[in-house]
Amino acid sequence: MRAFAKASLILILSVGTSFSQISVLKPAFGTHGMVSTSDSIATAVGVKILKEGGNAVDAAVAVGFTLAVVYPQAGNLGGGGYYIIHLKDGKNYAIDARETAPAAASRNMYLDKAGNVIPGKSLLGGLSVGVPGNVDGLLTAQKRFGRLPLPKVMEPAIELAENGFIVDEHLQEVFHHAQKEFGKFPSTMKYFSRNGKLYSKGERLVQKDLANVLVKIADEGRDGFYKGEIPGLIAKQDQATGGVITAEDVEDYHAIVKEPLMVSYHGYEVMSMPPSSSGGVCLAEMLNILEHFNLQRYGYGASQTLHYEIEAMRHAFADRDKYLGDVSFVSVPLKRLLSKAYADTIAREIDPFSATPSIDIYPELIHPPHEGTHTTHYSIIDKEGNAVSVTTTLNSYFGSMEVVDGAGFFLNNEMDDFSAKPGTPNQFGAIGAEANSIEPGKRMLSSMTPTMVLRDGKPYLILGSPGGTTIINAVLEVMLNIIDFHMPLARAEMAPRIHQQWVPDVVYYEPGALVYDVRQSMISRGYKLVPREAIGEVQAILVTPEGYEGVADPRGPGDAEGY
Ligand code: GLY
Repeated sequence: MRAFAKASLILILSVGTSFSQISVLKPAFGTHGMVSTSDSIATAVGVKILKEGGNAVDAAVAVGFTLAVVYPQAGNLGGGGYYIIHLKDGKNYAIDARETAPAAASRNMYLDKAGNVIPGKSLLGGLSVGVPGNVDGLLTAQKRFGRLPLPKVMEPAIELAENGFIVDEHLQEVFHHAQKEFGKFPSTMKYFSRNGKLYSKGERLVQKDLANVLVKIADEGRDGFYKGEIPGLIAKQDQATGGVITAEDVEDYHAIVKEPLMVSYHGYEVMSMPPSSSGGVCLAEMLNILEHFNLQRYGYGASQTLHYEIEAMRHAFADRDKYLGDVSFVSVPLKRLLSKAYADTIAREIDPFSATPSIDIYPELIHPPHEGTHTTHYSIIDKEGNAVSVTTTLNSYFGSMEVVDGAGFFLNNEMDDFSAKPGTPNQFGAIGAEANSIEPGKRMLSSMTPTMVLRDGKPYLILGSPGGTTIINAVLEVMLNIIDFHMPLARAEMAPRIHQQWVPDVVYYEPGALVYDVRQSMISRGYKLVPREAIGEVQAILVTPEGYEGVADPRGPGDAEGY
C-alpha cells in the first residue's frame, strides 16, 4: 500500500520536484516484516519473498534484481551498491559492490592536452563507465546470508522482465528528461522506445534480453554474469562508444565483504558503510561532533541547532574531500577521523554564533561546484530481526545512458565519482584530492550511506537515501529528528531538510526548513542561504515495541509495506 494516504499527519510535502502539495503521511505497519523502497512493485516483491519464507537478505536480493527491471534509472545490473546486513545472531556485515576503474584507466584520462577536465567525458558514454559490481554484491549477499534458492528469489524479476510491467508516471517523467541523451545511443532507443518514441505511462515495457540475462544468473549464479557472453557484450558496448572496459575487467570483478563502520551516538550504535564510501565516515564524524551540543534543548529548526549541524557537515565534508578514497589503494587516517578526540577538537573550535568560512578549512582544495541527485535506497527487516540496508546506483539517472546491446541493461557513469583532476568538482560538486584519483582497479569514492541504528545490539532504525552528496546529510537529519527531537518516523522523514557540503560555501534549504526569523538569524551569523527543492529521498524502517513502522519518503515515488 502506498505509504502516504489516509490519516495521521497533515504537512506540506514534496512529491517529485514540487513542494506545493498538501498530503497526509501514515507509516506502514507490520509485525512480521517491512519493506521500504523507491518503487511499489519492488516493495511488493520484497514482501512476497518474506511471506514465502525468505529472510530479509532474500527479500533484499529479490528487490535489487526487481529494481533493475522496473526502476532502470537507478536499479541495476550495470552499476554498483553497498549492503549493510544485520543477522538475528547479532553479526553485522558490509558488502562493498562498488564499481572499479577498468585496467586501462589512467589518472589523466579525462584531461585535455592542457591538463583541463574535458566536460562531460566522465559522465556520458563509454569512458564514463566503471566495471559493474552490483550483481556480485547481490549474489554474495544471497549466497552467504540468504535462505531461499537463488532461482526462487529471482523469479519475480525474471517474470517482470519477460512479461513486462506498466510504465508509471514517474518512469515516464525520468525517461522524458533523458530523451536527448537516449537518442545518442541506438541500443538504448532499441530497448526503451517504440517507433522512435520513449515508453510512456500506461504502456507495458517488456525486456526479453534482460530476462535472458536474469535467467542466466538464476541458473549459473556468478558465472551467469561474470563468465560466458555477458563480459564480452559489456566490453563491446563500452568500447563502441569510446570506453576501455575489457571482458577480463568484468570477469575479474569481486565484491568485498567488510566490517561495517560503527560509531556510538547518545547510547545508540550507528552502523554504516566504510570506504570506498565516504558516507559512514562523514556520518560518524558529524555525530561525534554533534554529541557535544544539546540539540534537544534548542529543538528542530532552531537557528542554534542548524548552526551546529551545518558546522558539523562542513567539517566532515572537508575531511571527505581531503582524505577519503579506496582504502585498498590509499592510506586513509580512519582512526583519527573516527575518533571522539578529533571530534572534540573540532567541536571546541566551532564559534557558537558565527559561520566558519569554508575557505578557512583546507583552502588549497577549494573550487566551485555543480549538483545532482540520483541513486536508490531500500530498507528491509524480517520477523526474526534480520535487517538489510542497501543503496545502489548507476550514478546519474540511467548512468552513462547506454544500454548493453544484446543484454538490455544500462551501464553506469560512476567514473565521474573519481577526482578527474584533484581539486576539480564532479557532478555533485564533490572535489576530492589525491586519495580519490583514478587508478586501475580502484573503487571511486561514494556518498552512499546505507545505515542501521542499533539499540542493545538490535535494529532500531534502518535507513538510507539517494541524492549524491546530499545522501549523507539526509540520513543524518532523519536520525537526529528521531534520536534528538523524538519525532515519529513519518514526521522525521517529512521534516524539511538542509544541506551543506563544505564547498560551495552555501546552505541549501528545502521550502519550510527555515522560517523568516531563522533565515534572518542565519544570515546574520554569516551563512549564504540557497533555496532548493527536495533533498534526499529516505526509505526508513523504525522498530517499535509494537512492531515495524515503514515510511517511504514522500519526496519520491516510493512505497513502504509491512505484514
Ligand atoms: N554515485 C553517487 C555516489 O556513489 O555517491
